Amino acid sequence: MLPSELVKYKEKSQKIIALTAWDSISGSIAEQANVDLVLVGDSLAMVCLGYKSTLPLTLENMIYHTNAVTRGFKKKVEEQPLVVSDMPFLTYQCGEDKAVEYAGKIIQSTYAKAVKVEGAEPEIQKVISRLIRMGIPVMGHIGLTPQSYLNLGLKKQGESLDSQEKIKREASILEKLGCFSIVLEHIPDFLAREIQKNLKIPTIGIGAGNHCDGQVRVTADLLGLNDNQPPFCQPIIQGKKLFKDKLKEWIDLERIN
Ligand code: KIV
Repeated sequence: MLPSELVKYKEKSQKIIALTAWDSISGSIAEQANVDLVLVGDSLAMVCLGYKSTLPLTLENMIYHTNAVTRGFKKKVEEQPLVVSDMPFLTYQCGEDKAVEYAGKIIQSTYAKAVKVEGAEPEIQKVISRLIRMGIPVMGHIGLTPQSYLNLGLKKQGESLDSQEKIKREASILEKLGCFSIVLEHIPDFLAREIQKNLKIPTIGIGAGNHCDGQVRVTADLLGLNDNQPPFCQPIIQGKKLFKDKLKEWIDLERIN
């Protein structure tokens, strides 16, 4: 699927379902579960590589993992989900030329059809505008932006009037710049609802209530595989416990046989 096709989901009031993936097993599971969009999010730094934040992830890591994810796909190309890769920290904060080069490398050497960048500060706006003009579709990401956790923490955004105004302003700027969709992370439901109504492009929420045009989840959180669960993502199964208990059962049986 192409980013332009995802925009049509909103026109048809069709809900977008997105999951993150980080290797060929998670990519294959997401694809077989029929998601519309697979995000190779930089959360893979924590979920899969054991880092404490997303900041250590490199461009090479992102390319490597995006390729692993799509190697897990089994459907015909036309039926595969849209793949979006996160731009890692420092690949788009150091100027437009570098951002085009690094986003271009992702697009050139993987099956990703778009990149996602966090924030909407003036410098980031210039980067987004340039990427889009150079033929690289961009998904925005505002609200809680984990790459800025040293400044903003990992807390809910949009709690004060000022912050709500800022997020609304950023959302409409991102639309005007040409983003094909925007992730809204950990903001109040009413704010996400207002933004959803005001924009033509789809909003994809995580911890932003049910009124977005789509939902994205970090698959490992949804499956309960992580020790540190974010407060806004309820697991649908206790995956880690389930696997651990079953493995223990198997080990105990093997030991007595
Ligand atoms: O990195 C990631 O997984 C993300 C999602 C939380 C949207 O950006």
